[in-house]
This record gives sequence, structure tokens and C-alpha cells, in this order.
Amino acid sequence: MRVTVRVPAKVNVQLGVGAARPDGFHDLANVFLAVGLYDEVTVTPAEELRVTCEGADADQVPLDRTNLAARAAIALAGRRGIDPAVHIHISKDIPVAGGMAGGSADGAGALLACNALWGAGASRAELLAVCAELGSDVPFSLVGGAALGTGRGERLTALDVGGTFHWVFAMADRGLSTPAVFHEFDRLAEGRDILEPVASPDLLEALAKGDPHALAAAVSNDLQPAALSLFPELGDTLAAGRGAGALTALVSGSGPTTAFLARDAESAEKVAQALRTSGTCRSVRVAAGPAAGALVL
Ligand code: C5P
Repeated sequence: MRVTVRVPAKVNVQLGVGAARPDGFHDLANVFLAVGLYDEVTVTPAEELRVTCEGADADQVPLDRTNLAARAAIALAGRRGIDPAVHIHISKDIPVAGGMAGGSADGAGALLACNALWGAGASRAELLAVCAELGSDVPFSLVGGAALGTGRGERLTALDVGGTFHWVFAMADRGLSTPAVFHEFDRLAEGRDILEPVASPDLLEALAKGDPHALAAAVSNDLQPAALSLFPELGDTLAAGRGAGALTALVSGSGPTTAFLARDAESAEKVAQALRTSGTCRSVRVAAGPAAGALVL
């Protein structure tokens, strides 16, 4: 018996960040779009909990109980009073520590896979509650499509998307830690008034219409100055993509992956080719969104 779940990456088309809360988290207006870059998580019964990983970035993935996939299995097993004796294998295509929710994808994937393997019968609502305990971006990895995340990003409202958006992603040659980028945001915000973040009406309308030009005009990422402060070379990558005809360029989430919106699939290939030869990034991928959420194959 084995269960495989496919889970998409995400890009944040708006990441509005409020001031640090007493618990250290930040209130967000986080507009997620799932894109067609996927990890696959396969679970099989085993003597004890074990995580393995394959893929270009596999050596950077922790294989102990800090891995979100392991934590997902432990959380579900704990709720059912069973032993999380399972081998979790991750086939990794989403960049690690890239700001594309790769770790969150593996958490959501392992949760859905273990629920099926164990016949645990957790409802969608229970799965979403476990996801929210695991991390702010994990619920979105489960649902996919497009959604507005409020609170620390875990409270989701599904959004209408009226078309397919074509993206290019440039992977950097090192990762960025999400907490480090939020700390840098706090440091840069010192002494300034930080407004409560709200979703941009223009952005939501652009998504609903499926209009890439309108979306390009409306995207924003409040973490981008912090990511650029910690990783200034990303400015060269953003400039290279803009120069190659991208409608807009931004840091994906907390980075350091950079995201480029193209007008269509053909233009995305051109932007990707220019970035590949620009010498400003490690690798380049093309992916369209919205993509479906976690799916049992
Ligand atoms: O929720 P998650 O474990 O993914 O968050 C990782 C880190 O990112 C947190 O420890 C916190 O430093 C930062 N974070 C934040 N505000 C959010 C989400 C994450 O400050 N809304």
C-alpha cells in the first residue's frame, strides 16, 4: 500500500505585511497563486517514521523530525492516538528555502497522504486546522488555486481567477531564511508607522479578469526591500528579467526566488531564455497558475 500526493508551489502576487504582533508574527494580506511546479510526497507503511528526498536540492532538505512532512505525520497520528510509523519520500522540484512554499507543500502533501494511507478520515476542516498549526503557508498548499490569506496568512478566502497567468521563476544560488527576512522587515520598519495590510482591489480585479497587464500593474511585496537588503544581487536578476520583456518582476514571498510575469506562454519562454544566459541566477523555470492544490494521484 502506498499513497502519492502532488502539491504545487506558490507565488505571492501581493504580500502586504503589518507591524510585528506580540507573538512575533505579522498580520498579512497575502494573495497566493498556486503555480505548476510540484513536489510529490509518497507514504508507505514502515517500522518507524523516516523521511527521504530526491531532486536537485535534496541535500538541503532536513530528513529529521523538523521536516514539515514528518511534523504533519506526527500531528495527524497524535490526533488519532496511533504510531506515525511511515516512510515519507519527497520527490522535490520546488526550490528549497526559495519563498515558494516548498516545505509547506511537503507538509500539506504528507498530511493528505497519511490521512489516506491510515484511513484516518480527517475532514477538510480538520486537515486545514492541522495545516495551520504546521505553518502559515501550509493551508494554502492544501487548497491551491488562488486565495487571500489573512491573520498570519493561514485564514484563507478562495479567489476567482479568470485566466491563466504565465510566470518565469529564477532560482538563486543560496536560500534566505523566512524568519531572517521578517526580522529585516522589522529592522527597516523601525520608527515608521506600519499600516494594517489590506488586499488591493485592483489586484483582485486583475486576477478575476485573468488580465496579465492589470495584474502586473498591481502586484506588490512588502518583504521585497528586506529580501533585497539581505541579498542585494537579486536586484540584478530583477533587472535582467524586466529588460527581457517581463511585464513585472518581484521577489517571491520572502525570496530569494524572483518571479516574472509574462504576457503569454511564448513571451515567458523568451524571458526564461534571457535569464538563463544573464548569469544572474542558478536556474530558471517556467510555470503557469493557478494550479490545483494537493491531489492524491
Ligand atoms: O508560520 P511559519 O512557520 O511558516 O513562519 C516562519 C517564520 O516566519 C515565523 O517564525 C516568523 O518569524 C515569520 N512569519 C511572520 N509572520 C507571518 C508568517 C511568518 O513573522 N505572518
